[in-house]
Amino acid sequence: MKKIKIKKKNKKDTSVKWLSRHLNDEYFIKSKKLGYRSRSAFKLIQIYKKFNIHLQSAKVLDLGAAPGGWSQVSKKLSTPDSQIIGIDILPIKPIKGIEFLKYDILEFFENKVLEHEKFDIVLSDMAPNTSGHKNTDHLRIINLIEIASEIANKTLKKDCYFICKVFQGGAQGKLYEDLKKNFNKIKYYKPEASRKESAETYLIAKKK
Ligand SMILES: C[S@@+](CC[C@H](N)C(=O)[O-])C[C@H]1O[C@@H](n2cnc3c(N)ncnc32)[C@H](O)[C@@H]1O
Repeated sequence: MKKIKIKKKNKKDTSVKWLSRHLNDEYFIKSKKLGYRSRSAFKLIQIYKKFNIHLQSAKVLDLGAAPGGWSQVSKKLSTPDSQIIGIDILPIKPIKGIEFLKYDILEFFENKVLEHEKFDIVLSDMAPNTSGHKNTDHLRIINLIEIASEIANKTLKKDCYFICKVFQGGAQGKLYEDLKKNFNKIKYYKPEASRKESAETYLIAKKK
């Protein structure tokens, strides 16, 4: 495939390098070709495959769903009677067969919209906006992971999967200890589509 070259006019070297790497990235190109809204879609495809997760008529809750790549993958790999619900603070362009809700996950329990729903899979690919302040960003990340785990704990059916983005070097030890109370078979997995230089990895756990 022909490499895309970026004209340097008015662009800093680092942003030119980033853009060039992004546009020539294998998964970015594949996502455009297959109509996925994000290159992250391939991370979830690889996780589902690695853990032998079959969706069939699953009811899936996708936390931090924008622009919709993970919801698309879940819809595509499930049967037509599946139910996919995605939530994000950002608006998401509609996709047939998927329900998108726009609100802050931190208000999930006050919101009460999905309070009594039970899911077969809870996904979280959430990442907070970075402030540039290391400690603040770290706390925001931990906070999102904690709330995602709490939502998964309250809304997942028994023996069903929670898949959550976490960051290596964060409070992984404490998270593991907390999760052990309500989840089994807790594993960490970094799919090939996740960039090597990124500290992100994924936690896969089964509800007790
Ligand atoms: C990496 S993106 C998710 C990409 C998605 N999995 C896909 O494949 O299209 C992370 C998302 O988390 C969302 N997010 C971060 N904090 C949130 C919060 N408190 N409530 C809802 N969404 C949040 C962001 O708005 C962003 O869209």
